[in-house]
Amino acid sequence: MPRLIVYSVMVLLMVALIPPVVAARTRSDESPARPIHIIQDMDIQAKYKTQTRNPLYADQRSMRPEVVGAVARGETMLDTHLENGVVGGDWADTLPSSLKLDLDFVERGQQRYNIYCATCHGWNGMGNGPVNKRAQELMNYAEGPPEGTSWTQARNLHDPGWSEQPIGQIYNTITNGKNSMAGYGSQVSLNDRWAIAVYVKALQRSQNATMQDVPPDQRASLRP
Ligand code: HEC
Repeated sequence: MPRLIVYSVMVLLMVALIPPVVAARTRSDESPARPIHIIQDMDIQAKYKTQTRNPLYADQRSMRPEVVGAVARGETMLDTHLENGVVGGDWADTLPSSLKLDLDFVERGQQRYNIYCATCHGWNGMGNGPVNKRAQELMNYAEGPPEGTSWTQARNLHDPGWSEQPIGQIYNTITNGKNSMAGYGSQVSLNDRWAIAVYVKALQRSQNATMQDVPPDQRASLRP
C-alpha cells in the first residue's frame, strides 16, 4: 500500500478523535454558560420564581398572599351539617334536611360503598376485604414481610367503637379520612358521601336487627 494512503488514513483517524475528546472534556468541566439547548420545549420560559420581585404588584412580591375574603373549595361553611357533618359543634346524628332518605338513596350508597370501601372494609363491613387478605398474605410470607411492610387493618365497622358513631362522624371519615385511611372528599361527591354514610349505618343496624325492623307484612317469610 502506498505510504501516502497509510499516512492519510492515520491523520484522518487522529482528526476524527478530536470531537469525542472535546465532548468528553466539556462534559466533565463546570461552566457558568448555559448548555447548548437544541430542543427547547418549555424548559426556558419567562416566569417569576419564589422570593423574587414582580413589578406588576404594588408590594413587588412575586409570591401572592391569600386574597382577603376568598373561600377555598369545600370551605363555604354555610351549612356545617351538610358540609362537615357537624351540628352545634357535635357530630350530627341526623341526615341534612336537604337530602331525601329513601330506598334509592340507600341503594346508591350501597353501590358506592361496594366500589369505594368494600375493597378494604369488606362487603359486610367487617374489615375483611380483598386488600386486607392480600396484606395478610404479604405479612405471613415464610421469610416474613418485606422490609418496611406494615399493615393497619381496615376497621370492623360493627365493633362498638364504630357502630355507635353518629352518621356525621362517618361522613367526616369518608370526606377527610382518619389516621391511616385516606379521605374520599376529592373523589366522591358530597351527596354520594352522605349516601355511603347512610348505607354504613344501615349495614351496622343489619347486624343487630330485630323482627321489629322488618315491615310487618314480610315478617312471616323470615321466621326460621
Ligand atoms: C385502602 C383501604 C380502605 C378503604 C378503601 C376505606 N377504608 Fe375506612 N379505614 C381503613 C383503615 C386502615 C382504617 C383504620 C384507620 C386508623 O385508625 O388507622 C379505617 C377506618 C375507618 C372508619 C373508622 C374511623 C374512626 O373513627 O376510627 C370508618 C367509619 C371507615 N373507615 C369507613 C370507610 C368508608 C365508608 C369507606 C369508603 C368510602 C372506607 N372506609 C374506605 C381503610 C380503608
